[in-house]
Amino acid sequence: MEGLLSSVFESGVGSLSALVLGLSFGFCYCFTTAVYRLAFHPLAKYPGPFLNKLTDWVVFHRTTKGDRHLLEWREHQKYGPFVRIGPNTVSVNSLSGFKAIHGSRLSNVEKSPWYLTVIATVGSAMTSSIIDRARHAFHRRVLDNALSDVAIKSAEGIITENVHIWCKHLVDGSSNPESWSSPKNIGEWSTYLSYDIMGDLTFGKRFNCMDSEEHRYVPPLLLNASKMVYVLGMLPFEPLIRPFYRTRIMNILGGQMARDNLKFNDYAAAQMKERIAAETDDSKPTRKDLTHYLRNAKDPQTGKGFNLTELCGESSLLIAAGSDTTSVALSATIFYLLHNPTALDKLTSIIRTTFTCPEDIDSKTINNLHYLRGCFEEALRLSPAVPAHLPRKVLPGGLTIDDHHFPAGTILTTPPYTINHNEEYYPDPFSFRPERWIVDPEAPDDDISSERSVALARSAFTTFVIGPRGCAGKRLAYSELSLTLAHLLLSYDMRISPGTEGVGGGDPNHKNEGRRRPDEYQLDECFLAYRDGPIAEFRPRKN
Ligand code: HEM
Repeated sequence: MEGLLSSVFESGVGSLSALVLGLSFGFCYCFTTAVYRLAFHPLAKYPGPFLNKLTDWVVFHRTTKGDRHLLEWREHQKYGPFVRIGPNTVSVNSLSGFKAIHGSRLSNVEKSPWYLTVIATVGSAMTSSIIDRARHAFHRRVLDNALSDVAIKSAEGIITENVHIWCKHLVDGSSNPESWSSPKNIGEWSTYLSYDIMGDLTFGKRFNCMDSEEHRYVPPLLLNASKMVYVLGMLPFEPLIRPFYRTRIMNILGGQMARDNLKFNDYAAAQMKERIAAETDDSKPTRKDLTHYLRNAKDPQTGKGFNLTELCGESSLLIAAGSDTTSVALSATIFYLLHNPTALDKLTSIIRTTFTCPEDIDSKTINNLHYLRGCFEEALRLSPAVPAHLPRKVLPGGLTIDDHHFPAGTILTTPPYTINHNEEYYPDPFSFRPERWIVDPEAPDDDISSERSVALARSAFTTFVIGPRGCAGKRLAYSELSLTLAHLLLSYDMRISPGTEGVGGGDPNHKNEGRRRPDEYQLDECFLAYRDGPIAEFRPRKN
C-alpha cells in the first residue's frame, strides 16, 4: 500500500514537473517570439497596433467581423502609408506602393499562400487563385480572349435583353401603370440581374433569378462560401486543416459556412457539367459563350486544354467574380444616385437628351457619356466590391517601395477601400463627386476636374487592381453597368421608397465610427461583401 501511494505521489510529482517544464518552455517561446517580433524582426521598424505586431490572430479576428476595411483605413490615418497589420504583413496605402506591387509582370511578388485555401475549398486552381506564373498566364490568356472587346460587343444584345426583363420587374407592383412600383431591394435585384447575365454569358442560359425563386438561394451561398475561405484562410495554423476541406469532418466542424461553400462549388460544377452535356455533335450552341472559349483552349507549352475539374473551378470563379462584384457596383451606384439628387437629375437628363428610345442605346454612344461613367466609377471607388484583402508575397530578392525594402516572404496588402479614400488622390474622399473622373480643360490645377487631378484619381483607382493579376472582367463590368443605367434612366424614374431612407447607409449612432455615415453604402466585408438596400421604387418616366 505504501509503495502504491508513493508511486502515485511520485508520478503526480512527475506530471507536475512535466507541466511546469511545458509551461516554462511555452512561456519562453512566446516571450522570445514576442521580443523578436517587436525588436529584431525585419519589419520591426514599421508602425502599427501593438497586438498586430505580435500575432496574426488580430487580423484573423477582424475577418470574422466584416469591418476590416474600416479599421485599416483608420489605422493608416493614424500611422501613415505603411502599417504593420500582422507580424509578417504590411498594409500599404500609397500610389507608388500600389504600382510597385501590382503594376507590372516584373513586380517581384506572387499571390500569397491565402489563395491556396481558395484552391483547396474549390477543389481546383482557377485563374484568380493560381500562384504559378506560367500556369496563370495560360488561364489568363484564355479569359482575356473570352472577355475581349469583340466578345463583349457581341454579348451586348444578351445584356440588354436581361436588362429589359429587370426593368419590367422593377416597375411591378404598382396600383396603376403610371404610379410608383412596390418597393424593391436593389441589393437583391442587382444580384438577380448580374447572376442572370453571367449565366447567359458563361453557360448560354440565364439562371432565371429575376423570374423565379428557384436559383435565388445561390447568391447567399456564395457570400457564405467567400466568408468561410476568407476566415479560415487567415487562421495561423490553416495549412493543418487544409486537407479536410470538402470532407464530412469540415462540414461538421466548419458549420453552415463550410456546408454553403461546398454547395456553392458543387452548384457551379453542376452548371458546367450540364452545359457540356448539352453540347453534342448534333447540337452545338449557336453563339460562343465563355465555356466555349474555356473548352477549346490549348496550352501551347503542353498542348493540353482544361480538364473537367479545372473547368468546374473556372465555373465557380466566373459565377463569383462576374456576378457578385458587378451587383455590388450596380446597387452602390443606385444608392449614391438616390442619395445625391443633383447627380441623379443631371445623369437622367444627359441620358434622356442623348437617346430618344431604348433601341438607340449602343455602346459606342454610351462610351462617350463621361458623366455616366463618372457616376459608376465614383460608386466603385467609394464602395469597392473587394474592400480590403489583396495579399501578395514578396519573392526572393525582395521588393523596394520608395526607400523601403521588404524582404522575401513579407506579405504586402493594398486595401482598396483605404487607397480609394486617400485624401492625397481623392480630395473630400467620402463625398460622391462624379466630376472627379471627368477632365474639364478649363479647370485650375487644384480642381478635382483638372487634367492632373483626374489622371491622379485614375492611377490610384484600386477597385479592379491593375497589372497581370488585375481584373479580367473590367470591360464586361463597365459594359453591364453602362447599359443597365442607360436603359433604366431612359425609361423610368426612381426614388427611395418613403420610410426606408436609412437602408443601405451608415447609422449616425453606430458604435463603430466608420459606420456612421448615412450617405455611404455599407459593406460588410467577407473578402467580397455582404450588403443590403437601397430600397427603391420605380415608375415609367414622367418627362
Ligand atoms: C464591378 C465589378 C468587378 C470588380 C470590382 C472586380 C474586382 C476584381 C478584383 C479586385 C480582382 C483581383 C482579386 C484578387 O487579386 O484576389 C479581380 C480579379 C478577377 N476578376 Fe474581377 N471584378 C469585377 C467584375 C468582374 C467580371 C464581370 C468578371 C467576368 C468574368 C471578372 C473576372 C475576374 C477574373 C477572372 C479575375 C482573376 C484575374 C487574374 O487573377 O488573372 N471580374 N476582379
